[in-house]
Amino acid sequence: MVVAQNIYDRPDFFAGYSRLGRSVAGLGGAPEWPLLRTMLPEVRGRRVVDLGCGFGWFCRWAAGAGAASVRGLDLSQNMLARARAETPDDGVISYAIADLETLELAAASADLVYSSLAFHYVADAARLYAVIREALAPNGMLVFSTEHPIFMAADNAGWRDDGTGGKTWPVDHYAVEGARVTDWLSVGVVKYHRTMATTLNTLIRCGFAITRVEEFSPTPEQIAANPSLAEEVHRPMFLLVAARRQA
Ligand SMILES: C[S@@+](CC[C@H](N)C(=O)[O-])C[C@H]1O[C@@H](n2cnc3c(N)ncnc32)[C@H](O)[C@@H]1O
Repeated sequence: MVVAQNIYDRPDFFAGYSRLGRSVAGLGGAPEWPLLRTMLPEVRGRRVVDLGCGFGWFCRWAAGAGAASVRGLDLSQNMLARARAETPDDGVISYAIADLETLELAAASADLVYSSLAFHYVADAARLYAVIREALAPNGMLVFSTEHPIFMAADNAGWRDDGTGGKTWPVDHYAVEGARVTDWLSVGVVKYHRTMATTLNTLIRCGFAITRVEEFSPTPEQIAANPSLAEEVHRPMFLLVAARRQA
């Protein structure tokens, strides 16, 4: 079993992450959120689990949308400390430390399992999907975002000068799955690359019916409001998946 890196508890990484737009503004600073939100089932009255909940932005949104309970799980003490500090004690939201590599959840204990941008840190996705499937009640949904495999295939993925005054994003050894080490906010950040086919087929094999797949690209309105998003149309950064537990 792979030991999780817990990069969010490294001081330099945490300081940099805390300054990102999405860390300061929450869901309103996450350009993929409007699309991801449309992939969610009704949360009113439902039991929700948020895997890799970070600062708890989605937990608070789900509670505000009427969820019966929201359980936020994360590996990082730093992330959970801020989540707790910013969450009113409403009796709906609870947080706990958990490692998605070794996660255990009670059978049929959730109606919606949600995760935003945490699964690419997990080496054993098949184990995780199987645990989630057993934790979902019949017809329960898994909705998640993850870094897109085109975005993360290359080592030290990033824009390169294309030699003609433009820039390009390499997609190297796409079919070679496994660890990718990048320097983002800190040196030596480890993520796990899986092809699109592997992600979708593993979900199917683990007992999910995939109901929707999106590759986030900003809308013209989003680009007009935030021109720095324009480069996101050249390659997909995020993969968004909604899947239903098969009977
Ligand atoms: C990019 S942040 C996303 C946070 C939050 N979901 C959001 O969208 O605002 C990724 C989160 O995943 C957590 N994480 C990374 N590896 C993890 C693991 N093995 N188990 C649990 N959480 C993990 C990190 O600590 C961090 O809070």
